[in-house]
Amino acid sequence: MNIHLISPFDKIAKVVLNESILSRAEKKNIVRYNFYNLFEYADPPQRKIDDAPYGGGYGMILKPEPVFRVVDTIKKNNLKNSSFRIIFPTPDGVKLNQKISEELSTESNLIFISGHYKGIDQRIRDEIVTDEISIGDYVLTGGDLPSLVIIDSIVRLIPNVLGSIESAKTDSFSHPLLDYPHYTRPELYRGLKVPEILISGDHANIDKWRQNKRYEKTRNRRPDLMKEDKNYYNGGNNG
Ligand code: 6GU
Repeated sequence: MNIHLISPFDKIAKVVLNESILSRAEKKNIVRYNFYNLFEYADPPQRKIDDAPYGGGYGMILKPEPVFRVVDTIKKNNLKNSSFRIIFPTPDGVKLNQKISEELSTESNLIFISGHYKGIDQRIRDEIVTDEISIGDYVLTGGDLPSLVIIDSIVRLIPNVLGSIESAKTDSFSHPLLDYPHYTRPELYRGLKVPEILISGDHANIDKWRQNKRYEKTRNRRPDLMKEDKNYYNGGNNG
């Protein structure tokens, strides 16, 4: 998968994508991250990427020319890859969920446009963007962190990125219920004991206990997940 990131602040994404599992995915040649600094696509000598809104109002708006130009460049340099999903992270987009990440993880080219300032010129959204995605009902200062959140959720789902695909498919939201509690050694720490059942070796009972914990946690925290309207990927597993 080719991931293209367009931002006025490309350093933010570079730091994150050059560490840990996301970076290992690139070393394994499963993904490739391409960074584009928006200022480099703005007209010299000023290289102005934003301007005041028509109609008045506060804040600055990202100009169309640098964004159209960089997207043209990406497409021209990747001609053999005919399809491009072009994602604009924005608080007024469709709210991200596991199903959307699953779907995007099968694409071969994703372009992320990280906006800043008050907004971006609507013509970019109308003509270029294919997917407008929000990462939740709160407001952030810019699109870089949301782009990285979306990328992380997608890349970990590509086969062979994680040590075992199972680890992706059994965690919360790949499954209809939230995850059960986990414990490791020591058995007793600061007076806190690991539940007896987990040390019992009785695997049928352990499975039952875990299943009960999943129901209990989901009922308490996310009763909405127990309704018919399921926006998660359940890995073909209804247990
Ligand atoms: Cl995608 N962008 C910004 N700036 N804020 C957000 C968001 C996106 N999703 C939730 N809040």
